Amino acid sequence: MDHEAYWKQRWAERKTGWDRGATSPALEHWFAGMEQLPERILVPGCGSGYEVEWLARHGARVTAVDIVPEPLDSLRQRLKVQELDAELVLGDLFDWEPTTPFDAIYEQTCLCAITKDQRQAYAERLYRWLKPGGTLYALFAQTPWRNGPPWHCDLTEMREELFTPDRWIWPDDADFTLPHEAGFREDGYRLIRRP
Ligand SMILES: C[S@@+](CC[C@H](N)C(=O)[O-])C[C@H]1O[C@@H](n2cnc3c(N)ncnc32)[C@H](O)[C@@H]1O
Repeated sequence: MDHEAYWKQRWAERKTGWDRGATSPALEHWFAGMEQLPERILVPGCGSGYEVEWLARHGARVTAVDIVPEPLDSLRQRLKVQELDAELVLGDLFDWEPTTPFDAIYEQTCLCAITKDQRQAYAERLYRWLKPGGTLYALFAQTPWRNGPPWHCDLTEMREELFTPDRWIWPDDADFTLPHEAGFREDGYRLIRRP
């Protein structure tokens, strides 16, 4: 089964254990205390997109991409009811290209959904899609298992292979750790894209 068919089937069968049914606490950690949110934010692999709603409600211009129509349709409806605006893109992140780079990217369990052979290409895109000096808000999935998805995002691999220090400024430690009901945890790191 190809990648797109796989994700369509997961959504059709409601095998969506990652879905919190509400916004991630990461938003409170990172954005709630901010005087002004980054102006344009990308949410790749947004799924149900509760975070898209929250960011739009708090004044950001959000672009959200997913390969499956169903969660995007539901998100579109919820945005409409609340009279909120966001750009929703149905497409494969490996085919899509934004017209201009973003001030920030909010990466919530999309990297861990991507097969290992495509990780490097995805990291390359995240770099390209951010403005120099822009922030990648990354929730790296830490799983006790080694199959996936979600695929474990080993932090040494993240630092040394995908988001290398010549391109990204790393903090010393994670800003926070979030346990997930589905049995893994997410470590929240803010990475700054070097010029
Ligand atoms: C693990 S889910 C995370 C969803 C959401 N970020 C969340 O945390 O609730 C991964 C999402 O990425 C989408 N996805 C996977 N591969 C994709 C691709 N190549 N292009 C666009 N979306 C993709 C899936 O359809 C799914 O909604």
